[in-house]
Amino acid sequence: MIGSTIAQMAVQSGAQVTILDAMLPAYGGNLFNLQGIHDAIKFVLGDIRDAELVKSQIPGMDYIFSLAGQVSYVDSNTDPLLDLEINCKGHIQVLEACRQAKTKARLIFASSRFVYGKIDYNPVDEGHPFNCLSIYGIHKLAGEKYYRFYHEAYGLETVSVRIANPYGPRQQMKHSKYGILNWFIRLALEGKPLTIYGDGRQGRDYIFVEDLAEAMFALGLAPGTSGQVYNLGTGTGTPFIEMAHLVAAAVPGTQVQQVEWPADRYFVETGDYVSDIGKITGAVAWRPRTALKEGIARTVDYYRRYREKYW
Ligand SMILES: NC(=O)c1ccc[n+]([C@@H]2O[C@H](COP(=O)([O-])OP(=O)(O)OC[C@H]3O[C@@H](n4cnc5c(N)ncnc54)[C@H](O)[C@@H]3O)[C@@H](O)[C@H]2O)c1
Repeated sequence: MIGSTIAQMAVQSGAQVTILDAMLPAYGGNLFNLQGIHDAIKFVLGDIRDAELVKSQIPGMDYIFSLAGQVSYVDSNTDPLLDLEINCKGHIQVLEACRQAKTKARLIFASSRFVYGKIDYNPVDEGHPFNCLSIYGIHKLAGEKYYRFYHEAYGLETVSVRIANPYGPRQQMKHSKYGILNWFIRLALEGKPLTIYGDGRQGRDYIFVEDLAEAMFALGLAPGTSGQVYNLGTGTGTPFIEMAHLVAAAVPGTQVQQVEWPADRYFVETGDYVSDIGKITGAVAWRPRTALKEGIARTVDYYRRYREKYW
């Protein structure tokens, strides 16, 4: 989702783009996401765990958006070693390849709000404690630290972002383990009810994928940000149940229903989360532009048109 959105913007801005993706079935890789730019880019089917392949792709790069990931916090707890393999070892391999190639490229690493885990206060700034509640959060934190280490020890130009709750076009719609807002849109488009656990008052910071991509772009172009980590959200919290009602309003006829929390899910519930985006907005001329209602409408419209490419 995020990589292809960045690629679309990069091609529009005149950049030469290479995408390296392993297309692992559990995650969101989808060649349809490259609609309109297939002929303008180079696509490499490959895995960041393949050191030689990664090394061969580094020369000539000015910007490396380091987005490959095991993306499910749920799966990270049931298959922690796979998460370790991709989110830690894979990214060390990317960094090693960059170090050996002596690249001057800017590296922008996708970390996560899950590094904060259980939330002590809102809005959450970058100094908030790391109360990780998932293997995914622990490994993303390690990932950030690897990127920072390679900046400090070897001078690589790295920066990390802690992404809040992204949604929007090009996200996978195969299962519910990643990106609940998009999943609700799928359910709504299928005429199914949206189920809320508990009272649904927990706040989330939903960021439209194009706003997110623009922020990562802006950080890529801002060399003074090397070695830093930035929250990347909208700075606005929306109660879960309000988000569900916005989806229901965008797809008329959708029912919203509330049930008890299932025992296995409660463990990873973090409490309210709202990003403090003061650090990133102080560093680059970026602001989130898309209101939740508008972003949901655009996402619904996208999947109405291209449903068969994602279901
Ligand atoms: N709040 C969060 O935790 C959060 C939210 C969004 C994104 N992110 C991070 O941003 C990145 C992009 O996420 P996305 O939303 O675009 O998800 P996505 O699933 O659409 O994209 C991830 C891509 O990584 C590829 N991939 C996975 N393992 C790979 C490997 N070993 N080698 C090469 N490619 C591999 C997948 O095929 C997929 O195309 C991920 O690292 C994700 O963890 C974090």
